[in-house]
Amino acid sequence: MNHRTVGRVFRGMPTSDGAGVRLTRVIGSPQLPDLDPFLLLDEFGTDRPEDYIAGFPDHPHRGFETVTYMLDGRMRHRDNHGNSGLLVPGAVQWMSAGRGLVHSEMPEQQEGRMRGFQLWINLPARLKMSEPRYQEYGPERIPTVNPAPGVAVKVIAGEVAGVRGPIEQPATEPVYLDVHLETGSTFTHVLPHAHNAFLYVYQGALAIAGAMPVLAQQLAVLGPGETVAVDATATGGTRAILVAGRPLREPVARHGPFVMNTREEILQAMEDLRAGRF
Ligand code: CO
Repeated sequence: MNHRTVGRVFRGMPTSDGAGVRLTRVIGSPQLPDLDPFLLLDEFGTDRPEDYIAGFPDHPHRGFETVTYMLDGRMRHRDNHGNSGLLVPGAVQWMSAGRGLVHSEMPEQQEGRMRGFQLWINLPARLKMSEPRYQEYGPERIPTVNPAPGVAVKVIAGEVAGVRGPIEQPATEPVYLDVHLETGSTFTHVLPHAHNAFLYVYQGALAIAGAMPVLAQQLAVLGPGETVAVDATATGGTRAILVAGRPLREPVARHGPFVMNTREEILQAMEDLRAGRF
């Protein structure tokens, strides 16, 4: 078997976004600006309402996809095309912003824990100006698979032990797994050879292909190969997301919530937003 080894390991950077939501930026930081096709990964996790209550009021997106996966807490989203929905714990919203929309993402709770991830995935040039589209699923629609003793995997995108997750995106063929490992358990998974891939540990610790453990709040970029093999090393169990996608290998022109191929397209996005064409 052709095992993927650990490339570089990154620690997230504390930051704030939206109207002052405190979060940890793991991809999209100076250390790791992107990992084609992934543009950004934020982890938010706090039980202090003042860290999240102001939420993310109206803001635009164009040219890529935002994936919100909630672990705890509830988030209400609403866009300027009349779409809205409530994300509950365990829900995922896979939003293809395409040619653009303006939306808000606001906590719908006054207290308690808020925890989850937002991942940005690029779109190829031919889809950047497509119509906005949502794939949104509650926790009951995301299958859990037990591929090995002590291992439970929530399959958001991709396939584990013959079970497919609900998300489809042929452009990047993404894999998005939430992996729960009991102490001492082992999980192996085959990824498409050409995909870029990472593991982000959000609780506990795990060793990849027998290397030094990757600790909580660390992201390991996986090297080339196919099979990912992880051993849970922490007492009390380990939780991590395993994410992979086919790289687009296109020029990236990026400005805040706009991700296009050229600077001219960025200027056009700003003009279109000003003119109310989102
Ligand atoms: Co947004």
